[in-house]
Order: sequence, then C-alpha cells, then structure tokens
Amino acid sequence: MGGFVITGVPDRQTKFEGKITFYLVICAVIAATGGLMFGYDIGISGGVTSMDDFLLKFFPSVYNKKKHAKEDNYCKYDDHKLQLFTSSLYLAALVSCFFASAMCRRFGRKLTIQVSSIFFFIGVILNVQADGLHMLIAGRILLGIGVGFANQAVPLFLSEIAPFHIRGGLNILFQLNITIGILVANIVNYYASKIPLYGWKLSLGLAGVPALILCLGAFLITETPTSLIQHGRSADGLEVLKRIRGTHNVEAEFQEILQASEAASLVERPFMSIFHRSSFPQLVIGSLLQFFQQFTGINAIMFYAPVLFEAIGFKSNVSLLSAVTIGIVNLIGSVVSLLVVDKVGRKLLLLEGCLQMFLAMAAIGAVLVTNGQKNQALDSDSAMGVVIFAALFVTGFAWSWGPLAWLIPSEIFPLETRTAGYAVAVSSNMLFTFVIAQMYLSMLCHMRAGVFFFFSMWIAIMGIFVAVFLPETKNIPMDEMVSRVWKKHWYWKRYMDDGTRSLKMEALYDAYSY
Ligand code: BGC
Repeated sequence: MGGFVITGVPDRQTKFEGKITFYLVICAVIAATGGLMFGYDIGISGGVTSMDDFLLKFFPSVYNKKKHAKEDNYCKYDDHKLQLFTSSLYLAALVSCFFASAMCRRFGRKLTIQVSSIFFFIGVILNVQADGLHMLIAGRILLGIGVGFANQAVPLFLSEIAPFHIRGGLNILFQLNITIGILVANIVNYYASKIPLYGWKLSLGLAGVPALILCLGAFLITETPTSLIQHGRSADGLEVLKRIRGTHNVEAEFQEILQASEAASLVERPFMSIFHRSSFPQLVIGSLLQFFQQFTGINAIMFYAPVLFEAIGFKSNVSLLSAVTIGIVNLIGSVVSLLVVDKVGRKLLLLEGCLQMFLAMAAIGAVLVTNGQKNQALDSDSAMGVVIFAALFVTGFAWSWGPLAWLIPSEIFPLETRTAGYAVAVSSNMLFTFVIAQMYLSMLCHMRAGVFFFFSMWIAIMGIFVAVFLPETKNIPMDEMVSRVWKKHWYWKRYMDDGTRSLKMEALYDAYSY
C-alpha cells in the first residue's frame, strides 16, 4: 500500500517519518473489532427486551404490564429487573477495566485484547443457554468483563500504533466498529423478532461472532512498540516501529518512546501516581468527558430506541426499523469523524456536536410535550418528527462525543500513568452508562418528555466546558503532551509543577518542549 512521509507539519514534528502501511492498517482494523462486541451489545439489549418471548420467559411481570391495554405509554417498561439486565454488563465492565489496566501494563495490550474476547465468548454461551434470570445475568456479567478488557486495551493500542498525524482517525476505527455493532444488532433484532420462541437466542448468540473474529484476528497483530520498549524489549520495539511505519528512519520516534518509558520506569507505583496533582488535569478531563458523553442522553436512544419508539406509539416491528435507521446515521456520522478529526481538530467537532445535539434533544422534548398523551400514540407527523430529530441528534453525537470521549483520554496521559489513567476514564464511562441504563426508564416514566430537556441542559454545560477548559491535542505526539499541551494551557499549567516528578523525569519531559 502506498504511503506518505509526514510533511507540511511545522518544525520538528517533521522528524517523525511514517507511512500508512498495509500492516499498520491490518493491525488497526483487527484490533478495532473489539468495538464490535461493545456495539453489538448496546444494540441488542433494547431489541431483545421488546421481544414478547424473551419477556415472557425472563420478565413475566413486564410482559403482563406491556399487554395491559390502558397502561401509561411512558411507564410500561419501568421495571428494575429489566433495567438490571441492561446495566449489569456495565457494572462488570467498570470493575474489570482496572484489572485490564494492570494486565495491559504487565503483559501488554495485545494479550489483554485477546483475553477480552474469551470472557465475552463465555458470556455469550451462558446467555444462549440461560433458562432463568440468574444465568442470564451471569452471562451479562461475563460479557461486561470482556467489554471492560476490550475498551481498556483497544483504544490504547490504536493510539499507540498510530503515526501522530492520523492518530485521531485510526483511533476512531474503534467507534466505527461500535456503530457497526449497534447497526448489525438492530438488523438482527428486526429479523429475529419474527422468529417465534427462539428469536432472542439468535440475537444474543450472534454476539459470539465478533468475539471469535477478535480472538483469532489477534494472532495476526503486533504488540505496540511502546509496550515492547516499556518491557525492556527495545530491539523488538524498534523492529515493529520500522515495520508499521514502513521506513528505517524511525530513530527520532524511537528515542522519544525510549525517553518516555525511561520516565515511566522512574515511577514505582503507577496507579498511585494518577492521584498526584500533576495528573489532575488529565484525570478530570478523562472522567468528565465520559460523564458528559453519557449525559448527552445517547443511550436513552441507543439502548431503548425500540422501546422509546414503541412508547410513542409505533408498532413493535416499525420501532425496530426506526432503530435501524438510527443505526445507519450513527455509522455514517462516525465515518465523517474518522475523516475529519485530524484536520479540524477535537474541540471544533465537540462544539459542533453540542450545538446539534442540544437543538435536536430540545426539539424531541418539544414535540412530545405538545403532542404526547399518556395513553395515546403520537400522530404520524409528530412521530416522524421524533425519528428525524433523534437521527439528527445521533449524527451529531457520532462525529463528536461518541468517538472523541474514547480518543482524547487515550492520548492525553503520559506513559507512566497512561494505562491507569485510561482505566479511570473507561470505568467512568461504564459507571455513567450504568447510571443512565438503570435510571432512564424510570426517568421516562416520571419526567416524561422533561427527560429530553434534562439532557439538553447537560449538553449546554458540556459545550461550555469544552470551550473553556479542553486543550486541543490534534497533531501532537503522545509523548509530547506534557510539555506541549499541559504545561502551556492557561488553566491546567498550574498543576504541572507540583514537585512530584523527579528532576530527572522533568528533564526527560522538557527534552521535548520547544
Ligand atoms: C458510547 C456508547 C454509545 C455509543 C453509540 C459510544 O461511544 O460509549 O455508550 O452507545 O457510542 O454509538
């Protein structure tokens, strides 16, 4: 595959030479399929929980409520056990990513990726075989462990193998796979819902396919040069760097990784050092981005799209079809993001996303307030309006907060706190996903259309945060973030000289500042 030398980037950045090699692309594409497992899971839950046979077997009380003709539209799915089905996965993931972080550090990114697929696969088997709620939830927990491991290791892997000038695009392959997973799940649900008795088994069972692809594919990928060098295998790291960059001229990049791992090795207890003052900025941004990502309300739409559309009066099959439409725009949005993120930068995309999502969410709320009756379906124009605004909302999310909440935390930490800091970010994502999954159906029941205004309010707040506090990280090599981003930021620079870094370490960082 043809490649190009990085040009047109000013000053010393040009010293990093690299092509977009075939091997780089293969490694990235395979690792990114970790996102398929996560996405498939997000997409499958909502559809399965609106299948009658599934409800009848595991949640008979919800089934009865649903069949009750005069039931309040907004409340018919408000059931804690049903919410637990969706959210147990996230609880497991939020704990497991800390183990995954330790594994990434000790055994590398590649093995962690492979282990994730094995946990996930066992979870799928339990789900398909489940003959009671306990086994179903046990399966969800194993899926969650798989997701925690994958979400920890894959974005780090992608950011570490990427040449810095296309790091954003390469990392967004992860989100692209999430969106493909969601879309495929929605399509599977649409057809599986027509299969009597066993439709839900097919839906849950097909989750094994992405796990299998990842497990086998992982034999073909490399360990990242950073991880190899950090484990004292510098010669191997250099070889891999040459191979994925498609050139022998990798000395400058190699030296920078060497220095970063020397600095990292001076830290005795990497997990504790994320609590130092100098890690505060990255930790706050990494976690807040996750909080904000979830409080956009995206999963109110993703998990529960079929349920939501049914709640406003669509028939079950039409609801799934609308969810498929949402899945398609989600995918298109992430392709756009992948193509533009390294040109327009992270901040602009996040801000545009906020504006679009704010307007769309508020519009959904307005349609429901003016037209939604407790027990009646929306008229067809209003229902179509909700689908259109939901699609606009999802597109805005898909090119901004969706991918960037994974990308930014994977690139802002220095090597010594990278896996630990990223674990905090992943676990925050899971925590807030859990909170939304657990709360949303009750919120919809009690706040009704107000729930959409609630999310718009958060979207406005996150826009202000980004405008004021988020530094731009486009086109900056990961091992130069401290010197070129944090030490120069108008607000965060005050946290950078807390004396917790040794003089030697400071010297190593400053070697790369202008
Ligand atoms: C989020 C998920 C969300 C998905 C939608 C991901 O980035 O973490 O919670 O469901 O995007 O595409």
